[in-house]
Amino acid sequence: MRFLDLIIKKRDGGRLTKEELTYFANAAAKGEIPDYQIAAMLMAIYFNSLDEEETADLTIAMAESGNMIDLSHVKGIVVDKHSTGGVADTVTLILASLVASAGVPVLKMSGKGLGFSGGTIDKLASVPGFSTEMPLEEAVKQCDEHGIVILQQMERLAPADKKLYSLRSVTGTVESIPLIAASVMSKKLAGGAEAMVLDVKCGTGAFMKNEEEAKALAETMVSIGKNAGRQTVALITDMNQPLGMYIGNSLEIIEAAEVLKGNVKGDVLDVTMELGAHMMVLAENDVNDLEEGRRILLENLQNGKGLAKFREFIEIQGGDPKVVDDYSLLPLSSIKREVHADKAGYIGIMDTEALGNAFVLTGSGRLNSDDELDYGAGIIMKVRIGDKVEKGDVIAEIFTEKKEIINEVEGMVAKAVPVCDEVPEKPKLIKYTIS
Ligand code: URA
Repeated sequence: MRFLDLIIKKRDGGRLTKEELTYFANAAAKGEIPDYQIAAMLMAIYFNSLDEEETADLTIAMAESGNMIDLSHVKGIVVDKHSTGGVADTVTLILASLVASAGVPVLKMSGKGLGFSGGTIDKLASVPGFSTEMPLEEAVKQCDEHGIVILQQMERLAPADKKLYSLRSVTGTVESIPLIAASVMSKKLAGGAEAMVLDVKCGTGAFMKNEEEAKALAETMVSIGKNAGRQTVALITDMNQPLGMYIGNSLEIIEAAEVLKGNVKGDVLDVTMELGAHMMVLAENDVNDLEEGRRILLENLQNGKGLAKFREFIEIQGGDPKVVDDYSLLPLSSIKREVHADKAGYIGIMDTEALGNAFVLTGSGRLNSDDELDYGAGIIMKVRIGDKVEKGDVIAEIFTEKKEIINEVEGMVAKAVPVCDEVPEKPKLIKYTIS
């Protein structure tokens, strides 16, 4: 098979067969196709798309390009959760602790942040001593004994995605529904979860900027999951403003702890509860419906079992559990700058992607996969859409060690969070459920 012929076929709007897509995934994973040809194919797919069958075939081929993990020997049904990426999305840490405290095993592989969206592995790396690297047998043992483990994606998990994603992020081909669906679902299928709940983010801080695109992505991923024999539910949730108030690595550990202590309510908790309720039902743990799932999770939030599980989780993975009670044990960058409202009015729209880019600039996020992070940098938001502000009110606090970027970050945040004269409509948090 000549790869050039496949590029031309897709460039001219043709369909690729299962055999051709399997060749593409395997050869890309093995480094047998030069980057410029893969990039050309990605651009051809970006413009001419893949139909449902092609997307499913590419996903399976990408999943099977490396190791397929078998979690059937873990006690209980492992339900995975995946977010398509957003800003101040601290949900995984809270959710994993809460559902694990309710007896649903969580064995989850998470990613590092890239670009404007953060990553769970970076947040956990801000906890002194915490490790997310371990062999699978150890992870399974930990899951059986403690019900919770979060680890870095293994080296040989969907290597075709690793190759394609690294080229997509530098060739302007990330925002393609079939390519995102294949990327996410290949890792989920290879990761071995028997059921999954997908959080498809929609809005100014998400890859999918509007509901129509988010729905199409959710439907594609649910259909791939179901056809592969995995129970799959997708929620479309709002990302027109940061989900939580803290954007950063150590900062999001603090926010997770505050939510689990019951001190913080609002959007981050509401999304966690809704995703968690679906996980409880899919785990078939005698939870009959979403209402019952929500009730159990709320009980475990109020009686402190979720918080206790969070401490236990940090400790078993080598971290210092005292960080949950003493935030001064976490890194916090030394330079602080407040951003003030330039007039009285209402917080209208937020450019959440720009806030994510500002977070990267503070040193807490990465533009390249090998960038070193400052785990204590980030931004604390003080306002949400719809809030009334007076001139001079603090709308955000920036933390960084980089004096040279502080003015630029301040300008970016001020521009991303304009004060308007009219009372804006608040975005709906949980928009659709697709199952
Ligand atoms: N997350 C992924 O894993 N892949 C994408 O393509 C986009 C978000």
